Amino acid sequence: MMLSSSLAVFSLLLVVLGFANALPTDNNAEYRPPPPRPRPTKPSPRPPSPTGVAPTCVQPTLTANETAWSTKRFISANLPDPLKEAPIFWSGQANNQSVVSIAERCGASVHGATVGMMMCENGHFTMPNSTTPAAHELWNYASEIFANHTAGRAYTVLGSTVNPSGTWVKVELPALKRNKRVTSVVQLNRTTCANDCYWYCTEPKNCAGIKPCEGA
Ligand SMILES: *[C@@H]1O[C@H](CO)[C@@H](O)[C@H](O)[C@H]1NC(C)=O
Ligand SMILES: *[C@@H]1O[C@H](CO)[C@@H](O)[C@H](O)[C@H]1NC(C)=O
Ligand SMILES: *[C@@H]1O[C@H](CO)[C@@H](O)[C@H](O)[C@H]1NC(C)=O
Ligand SMILES: *[C@@H]1O[C@H](CO)[C@@H](O)[C@H](O)[C@H]1NC(C)=O
Ligand SMILES: *[C@@H]1O[C@H](CO)[C@@H](O)[C@H](O)[C@H]1NC(C)=O
Repeated sequence: MMLSSSLAVFSLLLVVLGFANALPTDNNAEYRPPPPRPRPTKPSPRPPSPTGVAPTCVQPTLTANETAWSTKRFISANLPDPLKEAPIFWSGQANNQSVVSIAERCGASVHGATVGMMMCENGHFTMPNSTTPAAHELWNYASEIFANHTAGRAYTVLGSTVNPSGTWVKVELPALKRNKRVTSVVQLNRTTCANDCYWYCTEPKNCAGIKPCEGA
């Protein structure tokens, strides 16, 4: 009952706002919840969950929850400062598909996670896949917190095309460079998840063996 009325409000707002006026971002278009990850096998004070499955995350109705989201505390609390895993930023498309699933797969190689994986696992919350202004603002906010809460190395997976006025170029990379605790920003190879090149490096020893990215 509550869900269907929320959906009705949501649909109505979509009509009112108009998809044509909504700004699709490099992040939220086509976003899907991340796939479950195997739980760590190291001993933990709590017994492992009987099923061993990752938590499912829930996508709240954005428009019904805009007020709650505008406080933004929930997002911030679920991206702890400093982040407990290496952040993996992502942006753009390759082979006509968002690179988000590649970024999620690379998580296993670099002991890292995307913002969507962290919000799902820590907050049981799915980042929105809608293109409303509110969703756009939420992605930008979460992305900047993700960058601000980074300490050490950040990773990025970029598509063959990256929106030059998108979140990566305009919000995330600048926030990473402003953050004094960030030591390097390294691009991962989309096929192998190995280090391709770096976009930012505070001193040579932080990027030993890695070359600068073209345009860095
Ligand atoms: C809004 O979303 C947050 C985060 O998922 C949740 O804690 C809160 O209860 C929601 N509020 C409403 C009114 O749905
Ligand atoms: C890319 O994807 C869009 C939307 O899914 C589709 O309409 C278009 O034909 C695709 N283009 C190519 C070159 O595959
Ligand atoms: C957006 O996410 C919702 C909830 O996860 C899903 O049901 C819906 O199919 C998704 N829409 C698109 C266009 O991906
Ligand atoms: C991120 O950090 C910068 C620099 O400290 C700060 O100005 C900005 O408000 C922070 N962003 C968010 C979303 O808290
Ligand atoms: C990614 O790795 C593949 C396989 O090793 C290699 O062919 C390709 O050139 C690499 N891409 C970049 C951008 O370095």
